[in-house]
Amino acid sequence: MSACIAPFSFHNPTAIEFGMGALARLPELVKNLGGKRALVVGDPGVHKAGLVDRVIAALGDDIPVITFTEVESDPDARSVDAGVKLAKPWNCDVIIGIGGGSAMDVAKAIGVMLTNPGNIRDYAGMGKISKPGVPVIAIPTTSGTGSEMTIWSVLSDREKNQKFGIGSILNCPRIALLDPELTMSLPPAITAATGIDALTHALESYVNTTTQPISEAMSEQSMTLIARSLRLAVMQPGNRQARADMLLASTIAAMAFNSTRLGLVHALAMPLGTRFHIPHGLVNAIMLPGVMRYNLPGSLAKFARIAQIFGEPIERLSLQQAAERSVSAIEKMKLDIGINARLGEFGMTESDLNDVAADAMLSGNVPVNPRQPTLEDIKTLLRAEL
Ligand SMILES: [Fe+2]
Repeated sequence: MSACIAPFSFHNPTAIEFGMGALARLPELVKNLGGKRALVVGDPGVHKAGLVDRVIAALGDDIPVITFTEVESDPDARSVDAGVKLAKPWNCDVIIGIGGGSAMDVAKAIGVMLTNPGNIRDYAGMGKISKPGVPVIAIPTTSGTGSEMTIWSVLSDREKNQKFGIGSILNCPRIALLDPELTMSLPPAITAATGIDALTHALESYVNTTTQPISEAMSEQSMTLIARSLRLAVMQPGNRQARADMLLASTIAAMAFNSTRLGLVHALAMPLGTRFHIPHGLVNAIMLPGVMRYNLPGSLAKFARIAQIFGEPIERLSLQQAAERSVSAIEKMKLDIGINARLGEFGMTESDLNDVAADAMLSGNVPVNPRQPTLEDIKTLLRAEL
């Protein structure tokens, strides 16, 4: 670490409650927040899997509940409007968001819009929310997005064919309730893709130009858990230790990138996800090794450390060779967990390169990337994955 540490900020206002079966603590947590009337936000998949009913059962008769379970994947801002319309006349004073990133992102945004004026679209960007929202308890059922911990809600505006992020410390949930049992039934393909999302969070935060000592420690811990347990969680879905590791890894990675932002993989994930409807984890998995190889010169020592975390024997290698091993280690992991998708499978062609690259260049994740790309650099990275 540098002898002269640059000034930094680190905030994580979200409390963590972790444990197998931790869902049972929900009524106590709601009461501690002073909650008397709850809105439960989920998606149809979570509802169908019976998890919304488990939340309602856990709350018992003392806390009346209404539900909003129509959150779609890549949720439109209109989902937030619909949730607010439901929650306002109900005077709800606590929101429980259960599901993947989409459900939690919408739950957080509904919380904000119950106390702030206007429309959620007015808060696109960083730091625009002025009042704390209705408190949110976020319960993740996948291990990847980290939304239970982050300042971000990512929403779509389908009319403009765009995604936008709302980033504010006031958008963080009050409590992240982490119960690995709720992730046990995730199918291997979703476990794999969401796990790579968590890895990309930890890794991009670790090598970018705003990384700092606290986030670095969190990134290292997150990657250590992923190196130990992502393959196992995919190959042995019932492995409780692996599921617990992955849920923690995802949350810890989010604690890291909350303060640092991410990098070029996430800058590309936005336009690729919006235009070609590639699931977020998968698009990260497609782009990650190529972007790592491109970024190597910007952070050689960090990439060498990543190689070490992923079990590569680097002791006798030059720094350059050691750093390169991080890319092959991640490529190996991708193959082991069954991810070999390409952009072309989702309809992307050579004629799309320019527009996607131009959109990516606008992302706030580009200025912090360890190597500043040109439009042509990005097109070359995309072309290699067609
Ligand atoms: Fe992500």
